[in-house]
Formats: sequence, C-alpha cells, structure tokens
Amino acid sequence: MRKKLLLGNWKMNKTPSEAKAFAEGCGEMVGYAISHGIDVGVAPTYVCLQTVVEHAPKGLIISAQNVSQYDHGAYTGEISIPMLKEIGVSWVILGHSERRTYDGETSEKCNAKIKALLDNGMTPVYCCGESLETFEKGETKKWVAEQIRVGLEGLTPEQAGKVVIAYEPIWAIGTGKNATKEIAEDTIGFIRRTLREMFGFVADDIRILYGGSVKPNNIAEYMEEPDIDGALVGGASLALDSYQGLIAGLVK
Ligand code: 13P
Repeated sequence: MRKKLLLGNWKMNKTPSEAKAFAEGCGEMVGYAISHGIDVGVAPTYVCLQTVVEHAPKGLIISAQNVSQYDHGAYTGEISIPMLKEIGVSWVILGHSERRTYDGETSEKCNAKIKALLDNGMTPVYCCGESLETFEKGETKKWVAEQIRVGLEGLTPEQAGKVVIAYEPIWAIGTGKNATKEIAEDTIGFIRRTLREMFGFVADDIRILYGGSVKPNNIAEYMEEPDIDGALVGGASLALDSYQGLIAGLVK
C-alpha cells in the first residue's frame, strides 16, 4: 500500500523569516495529515533549509530543490550531499523542468545525483514531464519514458523502490491549466508500467506524484486515480491556508 504524499515545492520563494513563520504555523495541519496516514513536506530554498529544520513540527519532510553529485571541491555555487545531511535534510527534488530549462540539468546528470543520494540513504524526487509542443504532437509517453529510463538507469530494484517520481507536464506548471485527472493517470500509469519493465514488481511500491497547477479545489480528483499517489505543488503550497486546503483535499 503506497502512502499518499504532498510535497510543496517553494521554488525561489520565501525569505528565512517567512519560511520560519510557515514552519511554526503548520504544526497542527502536519499532525492532522500524519494522523491520517499522509506524508507531507516542503522544499525550501537552500538558505531557508536550516531555519525550517529548526522550526518545523515533527514529521514534516524537508527537501532540497537540487544537489551536486560531488561531495566537495571546486564547484562554485553548488551544495553537496554531506552539507544537507549535516543539517538533517534527506530529501532532494531533481530534474525539475525549471532546472532542466534554465540550468541545463539533464537526465544523465540526474542519474548521477540519484545514485549519490541513494548511496547516502537519501530520497530523490525525480521529476519528468513534457512540453506543450511534445504533448500536442502526441509524443508524451516517448518523451517521459526516455527521461525515466535515463534518469533511473543502472539502479537495482531495491534502489528504485526508494525513489519518488513526479510527473509534471510543463504546460501545466504555473499556468492554471492543470492536466485532467484522466491525462495525468494515463501518463502516470504508463510510467508505472515502464518502471515495472525496468525493475519488476517493486514498481508497485514506487510513489508517483502529479504536479502542475494543483490547488486545494482540484487535488482530491487526482487521488481518485489508481496510479497517482499525491502531488508536487508549487504556488498553492506557499500560504498556510492553501497548504491546509491541499491536506484537506488529500484526506478526503
Ligand atoms: P504549480 O503548482 O505552481 O503549477 O507548480 C508545479 C511545480 O512545478 C511543482 O514542482
């Protein structure tokens, strides 16, 4: 039985004091989610991670938005796995379309990072998803299969079982045009079948999230679908009341 998961991707939002206010204010809702068997988390920027770790209620998952595949060295601007581990952060989002678009993140690079995270007992949240052009050409599955095959290449089934996947069609991110639950399920079911071909039955234990304009008023729809295990949420995860609405939608 896969546990539902809500992960808020804060992207480049919130100063440390704003992040602290969120962490201090979310205790009750996080407790409510956990008591209903739901995993909940947030992914702040690097400068806010420690603040959130220090002020977050017990059980809140705290994720970074990227990490280097190298442990240390001459990589200006990068943050390493040992740095995250030392402050108590063990989840990392990788391959978000914004990083693929603006920072040249590739599936090959994500593969190296995923392996490094798993070697350190950490949890990668690996993102995939197609552009509007690819969607309109009807090539979504081909595109996403390539991202999954390259990103997870060389993992053992046991390792693959520890990865979380997020399917985020680029045309749905921040646009208010969320994919219908049928479209999301069609691709996410396909991702699960691809994972089954690659890793066998462990695919049935891998959590796959939908992301792209998920809001308190539409999150429950996705949960009706058999292969969708939760959501990776941007804009609607920033304010406490909206985050609470997302949790309420998941509990339904
Ligand atoms: P929005 O929820 O703002 O569309 O962002 C989705 C996303 O990119 C989460 O990673």
